[in-house]
Amino acid sequence: MVTFITWGSEMSVGSELLDGHHRMIIDCLNQLHPLLDGNGNEAQLAKVLTQLEEFVLLHFSEEEQAMRHAGYPDWRAHKDQHDRMYDVVFNLKADAEHGRALDARHLFDLVYNWLLDHILGTDKQYQPFLAAPHPEADDSWHRSNGRPY
Ligand SMILES: [Fe+2]
Ligand SMILES: [Fe+2]
Repeated sequence: MVTFITWGSEMSVGSELLDGHHRMIIDCLNQLHPLLDGNGNEAQLAKVLTQLEEFVLLHFSEEEQAMRHAGYPDWRAHKDQHDRMYDVVFNLKADAEHGRALDARHLFDLVYNWLLDHILGTDKQYQPFLAAPHPEADDSWHRSNGRPY
């Protein structure tokens, strides 16, 4: 398989655990890339989508805990972005389970934009707080969309 994107240290958010999760997103992109041109990739697409859904649930929850514990003040706005992204993946998966054909390009663009906008943009913003935690900050939890945590 030709690697489309390679992890680089400039992508690091300063946590081995969270960086490891982000590398999994890059792995999903690398799996999606060869599926862009062909037909009959439904099974492979569905497999990547399932991985992605499991992955984002785990990753978002771990990242939100890390931000709270580090006292990162904007964690609620960050969590709202996670909730919206999870809803998109959940809905795609639900559609696929109800027989709707998955669009490789759509899924690829979605994940690629997450990488560029969220991981390399929004996620990077908590990095200084992980490096120098401010645990006295308010870390009370909230539900933005009624889903249990
Ligand atoms: Fe992240
Ligand atoms: Fe994030």
